[in-house]
Amino acid sequence: GPGVRGGPRGGNAISKEGVNMQICLVRSQGYQGMVDGGDNIKEASWESVSSMLQVGGTVIGSARCKDFRTHEGRLDAALNLVQRGITNLCVIGGDGSLTGANLFREEWSGLLDELVQSGQISEEAAQTHSALHIVGMVGSIDNDFCGTDMTIGTDSALHRIIEVVDAIMTTAQSHQRTFVLEVMGRHCGYLALVSALACGADWVLIPEMPPKDGWEEQMCHKLSENRADKKRLNIIIVAEGAIDQNNKPITTDLIKDLVVRCLGFDTRVTILGHVQRGGTPSAFDRILASRMGVEAVLALLEASPGTPACVVSLCGNQAVRLPLMECVQMTQEVQKAMDEKRFEEAVKLRGRSFENNLNTYKLLSHRKIDTELPHSSFNVAVLNVGAPAAGMNAAVRSAVRVGITEGHTLFAVNDGFEGFYKGQIKEINWGDVGGWTGQGGSLLGTKRTLPAKHIDKIAEQMKIHNINALLVIGGFEAYLGLLELQAARSKHAELCVPMVMVPATVSNNIPGSDLSIGADTALNAITDTCDRIKQSASGTKRRVFIIETMGGYCGYLATVGGLAAGADAAYIYEEPFDIRDLQSNVEHLTEKMKTSIQRGLVLRNENCSENYTTDFIYQLYSEEGKGVFDCRKNILGHMQQGGAPSPFDRNFGTKIAAKAMQWISKKLKECSLGLCEVRTDFCYKSNRKHTYSTLLQEIKC
Ligand SMILES: *[C@@H]1O[C@H](CO)[C@@H](O)[C@H](O)[C@H]1NC(C)=O
Ligand SMILES: *[C@@H]1O[C@H](CO)[C@@H](O)[C@H](O)[C@H]1NC(C)=O
Repeated sequence: GPGVRGGPRGGNAISKEGVNMQICLVRSQGYQGMVDGGDNIKEASWESVSSMLQVGGTVIGSARCKDFRTHEGRLDAALNLVQRGITNLCVIGGDGSLTGANLFREEWSGLLDELVQSGQISEEAAQTHSALHIVGMVGSIDNDFCGTDMTIGTDSALHRIIEVVDAIMTTAQSHQRTFVLEVMGRHCGYLALVSALACGADWVLIPEMPPKDGWEEQMCHKLSENRADKKRLNIIIVAEGAIDQNNKPITTDLIKDLVVRCLGFDTRVTILGHVQRGGTPSAFDRILASRMGVEAVLALLEASPGTPACVVSLCGNQAVRLPLMECVQMTQEVQKAMDEKRFEEAVKLRGRSFENNLNTYKLLSHRKIDTELPHSSFNVAVLNVGAPAAGMNAAVRSAVRVGITEGHTLFAVNDGFEGFYKGQIKEINWGDVGGWTGQGGSLLGTKRTLPAKHIDKIAEQMKIHNINALLVIGGFEAYLGLLELQAARSKHAELCVPMVMVPATVSNNIPGSDLSIGADTALNAITDTCDRIKQSASGTKRRVFIIETMGGYCGYLATVGGLAAGADAAYIYEEPFDIRDLQSNVEHLTEKMKTSIQRGLVLRNENCSENYTTDFIYQLYSEEGKGVFDCRKNILGHMQQGGAPSPFDRNFGTKIAAKAMQWISKKLKECSLGLCEVRTDFCYKSNRKHTYSTLLQEIKC
């Protein structure tokens, strides 16, 4: 579009949904294709967008268009649309492209009048096409658009950045080095900030928060402090648009010179550049774009001539519609605020999610000296329970550091409730959790053991270590475990303390929570593998892959993984199926495989059916597909729990655990001030069990 930047984004997952309406794709360079017409506008079919999901960048092309900025250009575009009977436009681009679309809509009736006058279209054609409907979706790796928590492409860019940081961290550990990394984002610090959170960077520079006077010494001091802690590697992340208090750019070279001058460290500069736009889209982006695409089509179907142009946004975990121009104006306000040095306001305008990230980073990055800390004299224990999930370590790190900052003494429990009753409890310090964000699995150790049989011993350990609060990070067993501890409160006064659970499981099956830590990493593992499986044996004959995912009785991974990987069917426990369903799926797929489609993908959740096993489904498809396609099966297994956590899980774990620890502090403080209600049975249970969405099992004491 005519925006400042029209680079490709990872977001081809749109228009996979079938709707009873003719859909055209404007090919070749966005608005230019609309101005040029001809073959650039083609009807899209189910097949033509098949296997588009996993392709990075943009398949239909995107570019800045000079012609569309001229009146003549827009007149040509209007003619091309009317000739094809198109009155609905779904525009995927940055704020510049979306503003262009809005202008086009406002001019529409004037453009049609002109076309009638010059005799290029009939009066009648002008009548039937009198209203143009616009819906926008923001495709931008910068995440710089107000009104949406995430833009399409941002999560994929974070993946690219974190891949590079992880590579640096594993290769550079043996040398004493400082890395200065520049990441993209134009005037928005989102990518830099969230990357810094995701890798536990030592310093971050973003345009929304120019460093205070004297920051140079502070930064050098912090780096030398890390050295004293025997940390060999320092990472400094600099946003492309980083500035100082006087709006003067802060460059990576400036930082490098500074570090070399004041500390003499071996310092390298890495500028990430366009790798951030490349690669395959992440699972999150595919799902986000697919859901936004559906919402966009619904918005167009419901639009009436007076409906203002809207943009599809992500609010929390929901796709919502917002007035396009209001969002564009707010986005421009951010820039204005920064130009006028009203930085606090700029942060506010960027939105809740940005502010939250910034506050969490500030909370975790700065180690306070002991004398600065409030002394709470409370002891808080942290443990992992259930199967390992990527992001658990990030959650532990964040909980420990926030807890220490709030003045508590933190205790780590190894191996879940099993380690708890055996007394595997140790104090854990700020430095002990350094570098934990990027590590997979559970460094504390985790077990599925439930506490009910060992309540006496657990209560005894609580007493020995004088534990005043409990933070449990884990899956369904963690949830059940807390319920068991709660049930034992009437017998054991030691258990009458604030307890909180942070959901962390690939299965995403914790009641009351939309998302759990680890699910995003598992989805990425599933989509990566499905992409690879689909590409393997390409060029050979038609093939259908039956893939078994984890998730226990919860169909989240199979359905959402299926959406992200473009599966033809997904079998889950929640939606019972019988032989008739299987038959119709097989027949449908067989018909489909007779067209140009070469690859079929069927996902099966591990516990979807006791008797329709993966082998059974594989044999059924093999037999019925004879002569049309052959079949392969694959059980994904534990790879879904492991590996390096995705940027999303690192940040989600970090943020949610920080929140949990803050909740604990609040409760402890209330209790110490005598504000909590102490009844004869010591405790009462919160009745909000089913209304909370993030933290589970709020128990008041
Ligand atoms: C669930 O599926 C796994 C993997 O196939 C299997 O090992 C386990 O026994 C199943 N559980 C039940 C209760 O069927
Ligand atoms: C699976 O088959 C067995 C008989 O082999 C039967 O007892 C069982 O109920 C079936 N499971 C389900 C979930 O229907």
